[in-house]
Amino acid sequence: MSSANPFTDTGYLHQLYATPRRLTERTSALLDARLHGTPVVEVISDLLHTHLAVPVDTARVLDVGCGRGTTTQALAALDPRFLVAVDASASLISTTRTRLGAEERRNAWMCVADFHHLPLPAKSVDAVVAAFCLYHAAQPTVVLSETARCLRPGGVLIAVTKARDSYHELDRLLASTGLDSHAPNRPSLYETVHSHNIAELAAPILHVRQLRHDQHLFRFTSLDHLARYLITSPKYTLAASVGNDPDRLASELRLRRPEGPVNASSTVTYLVGVRHD
Ligand SMILES: C[S@@+](CC[C@H](N)C(=O)[O-])C[C@H]1O[C@@H](n2cnc3c(N)ncnc32)[C@H](O)[C@@H]1O
Repeated sequence: MSSANPFTDTGYLHQLYATPRRLTERTSALLDARLHGTPVVEVISDLLHTHLAVPVDTARVLDVGCGRGTTTQALAALDPRFLVAVDASASLISTTRTRLGAEERRNAWMCVADFHHLPLPAKSVDAVVAAFCLYHAAQPTVVLSETARCLRPGGVLIAVTKARDSYHELDRLLASTGLDSHAPNRPSLYETVHSHNIAELAAPILHVRQLRHDQHLFRFTSLDHLARYLITSPKYTLAASVGNDPDRLASELRLRRPEGPVNASSTVTYLVGVRHD
């Protein structure tokens, strides 16, 4: 992978999210490692309850960049008046549809679309959630403006991203073992929209009502567990001999460092923006 930021490149993202597999395995390895940090879907639900201008069961909600539907499921559980989930990947939209139960699907619509051009009328929703996706936008402020266009006056955007240096411990580990010497110098997945610029990006478009930073801590219990995560991270360039095989990566790690737990950290940032006019 070159040092240019690939995480906003449409062709690369198309490959990255062509199937749900990588995202599913990465999420599973991370969840198994979580030591500390409030689950993201809990925080999003709490923020909606706090900031929505209407009762949740009457709210019209849009989930942008829904991925495999983890946040969508939590939003559906709030039983809003309707829920629209949008993603550029047809495969992930299909996964989201499958993961919602029949009852949850009753008031939910899933739609393949680019979040730079949201397929909803102006002022049509009470809330937009954009979790872990704005850093894939070629033009983040266009996406933020699109979310603002779709919001009714008084409507809220909840945007979620991470700090640029999230999981830096793993970059250093890969560099020190020689398995990916350039890992610390590559652009972060969160390079373009991160904890420390999201408010600045949103402020000209929406009133920033709240910015919340949560620390999350992880412990990968063994090198097998660590390899399950590392192999699915799009940031790293591992030797061709490792391929996409976590067992081979775990063996390579074992040759270079003692078996045992590995800790990592991330910062998850939530922005609450409100449309005033
Ligand atoms: C990490 S996943 C999102 C996870 C999801 N929001 C959640 O909370 O579980 C990032 C998603 O952004 C989507 N994405 C990337 N570029 C996009 C675009 N231009 N328009 C819409 N979705 C896009 C990808 O297809 C992918 O599903």
